[in-house]
Amino acid sequence: MPEPTLTDRLLLTPIDPADEVVLGRLFAIQADPATWTHLPEGVETDLSQTRSLAEDHARSWREQGLGWWAVGLREATAGFPEGAIVGLGGAGVRRPELPAWNLGYRLTPAVWGRGLAGELAAAALRAARLARPELPVTARALARNPASWHVLERVGLSLAWEGPAPASAPLTRGLTLRVYADRPLPDELLGRIAALG
Ligand SMILES: CC(C)(COP(=O)(O)OP(=O)(O)OC[C@H]1O[C@@H](n2cnc3c(N)ncnc32)[C@H](O)[C@@H]1OP(=O)(O)O)[C@@H](O)C(=O)NCCC(=O)NCCS
Repeated sequence: MPEPTLTDRLLLTPIDPADEVVLGRLFAIQADPATWTHLPEGVETDLSQTRSLAEDHARSWREQGLGWWAVGLREATAGFPEGAIVGLGGAGVRRPELPAWNLGYRLTPAVWGRGLAGELAAAALRAARLARPELPVTARALARNPASWHVLERVGLSLAWEGPAPASAPLTRGLTLRVYADRPLPDELLGRIAALG
């Protein structure tokens, strides 16, 4: 796996599906209802779901040179010791047939409100532009999750589309979805991103 990336407060380590300790910690975050108040249906219930996400991002690291990170703390914060894993996120290509970076993040609630997601998103944007600058950086956020889209706007992404998530989207159907991007997107690509829900 590639080297970790350092920001002011974070140690960002490529997600490695073979690292059972980190995987277990990420599953705890993904399975915590408090992480998912914006979308209770998203709570993971089985380690295999986190493993599947980790495997997709390991492929993104291999094929695109970048995927999501496990987010660690460089110093003790909010009751967590130095080195603790408090979330996941970054820029990755989870679906190789969809030529765009997906920028995303999920942090454990105790560390919210300190600008850490902004720090993570800025690092992801820089890394995406180094790895494959020709791919647009895109992100999806629910309109009812302002903390999430504030972070996107803060790092300079623009609202490309807002509308109802399609009926085919298992978790978000009918909810108002926002698609953000760092450049104008062709309609066809925008439609396929919005279709993910
Ligand atoms: C979204 C999330 C990553 C934000 O993490 P964070 O570290 O608290 O974010 P930051 O502190 O960097 O920035 C949050 C921004 O949203 C703003 N914000 C937070 N709650 C808000 C609310 N209810 N209404 C409006 N703005 C809000 C903050 O003021 C801040 O904006 P600013 O930078 O202009 O001050 C975190 O809440 C999270 O992990 N949530 C659960 C998972 C999730 O929603 N992921 C994204 C979609 S799947």
